[in-house]
Amino acid sequence: MSLSELEAPSVGDQPGPSFTDEFVCKTSENLFAAIEKCLDNGLGTCLVVEGENRLVGRISLDDIGRAVLDGALLNPSLDKHMATLAHQRHNDTSADKDVLHPVLDPQGKLTGVTIDRSTQLVQVARPDMTHREFRSVLDAFISSWISSKGPYVEKFEGEFRTFVGTQHGIAVSNGTVALHLALVALEVGPGDEVIVPDLTFAATINAVLYCGATPVIVDIDRETWCMSLEGVQRACTPRTKAIIPVHLYGRPAEIGPIAAFAAQRGISVIEDCAEAHGARYNGRPVGQFGDVGSFSFYANKIVTTGEGGMCMTNSAPLAQSLRLLRDHGITPNRSYWHERVGFNYRITNLQAAIGHSQLWRIDGTLARNRRISDLYHTALRDIPGVRLPPPMAAAYEPVVWLACVQVPADKRNAVIAAALEARLEMRPFFHSLSSLPPYEKYARVCPNSAELSATGINLPTSRSVDEHVVERVARVFRDVLS
Ligand SMILES: Cc1ncc(COP(=O)(O)O)c(C=O)c1O
Repeated sequence: MSLSELEAPSVGDQPGPSFTDEFVCKTSENLFAAIEKCLDNGLGTCLVVEGENRLVGRISLDDIGRAVLDGALLNPSLDKHMATLAHQRHNDTSADKDVLHPVLDPQGKLTGVTIDRSTQLVQVARPDMTHREFRSVLDAFISSWISSKGPYVEKFEGEFRTFVGTQHGIAVSNGTVALHLALVALEVGPGDEVIVPDLTFAATINAVLYCGATPVIVDIDRETWCMSLEGVQRACTPRTKAIIPVHLYGRPAEIGPIAAFAAQRGISVIEDCAEAHGARYNGRPVGQFGDVGSFSFYANKIVTTGEGGMCMTNSAPLAQSLRLLRDHGITPNRSYWHERVGFNYRITNLQAAIGHSQLWRIDGTLARNRRISDLYHTALRDIPGVRLPPPMAAAYEPVVWLACVQVPADKRNAVIAAALEARLEMRPFFHSLSSLPPYEKYARVCPNSAELSATGINLPTSRSVDEHVVERVARVFRDVLS
């Protein structure tokens, strides 16, 4: 273990009573308590002590998974499990090296812990599940409301509606179908044009194609990384039926002016907010500017339900239409009466239960991501060749979804490869839509998007990122770029 990888929580001769609380279970505790500790400390593992802090072993979520399957979870306390777990761990050669290390006194008493992530792959994104999500999903499961009926769906819709500040929220199975549902509800179809940005995840354009409409690709703005009002105005034709501004990588598009322009022309706006939960423009959350705000709750998103999405709107008729279309086109309160060709785009009560707990913690998640991004900026700003995201004007309040930097295009692969060698995952930005085979027919020359796509890198942005990880990331950039 390299010393530079050592990190407090706290290591010392005379630890306070709670010094290791979040990393240590007592043998008298049960497996549920162990699960919650392993989740809450973000490491997925705990040390186990008995009596006066005498170390007897460790327990991880993988161990507990096995115990759940063979029924051992029913045993009252951890001491019943320690021998079996030690045996299983010994035979499990695939297990990650331990991240959590005990500090012991000469009598074998635990006096502190250290955390060493140097052997663990630090991923770009990782869902952060705590005891809250665990308890709510268990509650949903035990209730047997496991499909789309059940109290958590409405609860989550109501809470997310309040978060975005719209009157309606219609939860769906993922962010792609949220876009599709919105387009169908807004009656976009063959012959219609829909303006989309060249740099986005492909779901944005795919949803337009599902409707048989024609996507019109526009370049992004160099400062916001999103479509601009000027770009929209230039692309607008009498056939333009809708615009889908994407708030890319947490950065709001010029959404106020775009929505105002669209309203004057009778054009619909669907905001793609999949990557920007909590971002604001002129003090108002994104998702409330368009006719529909579309969100994704995929596992790498700021709020996750595993898979999931939501359509936000202030229009009661549109909300009604979205609900009807989500639910097979069935008239509410009239059994099996299909008044339209609809879809099954529903979310489950189990997913909504996770979303409910995730949303409860969103302020902490956003603050954590902001802190990680600030740490990267401080560590990377003076490295020649590294470009930080351009600052945004006061009207724009971005959030951090995944931390971003740019490097010279010819160095990017080398940076990503060197990072992987150092057990750090980094990802290149999306390919521009115009460069992808299925969209060749709609390709436009988009120099800003092409440049950002070729130079952008997403950095690890999850709970596992601390000062030590940031320093390892900086070392990779320094080694490759200097
Ligand atoms: C901009 C954007 N739009 C739409 C989606 C689609 O969401 P989902 O994966 O939930 O279908 C994503 C990402 O996943 C996205 O990044």
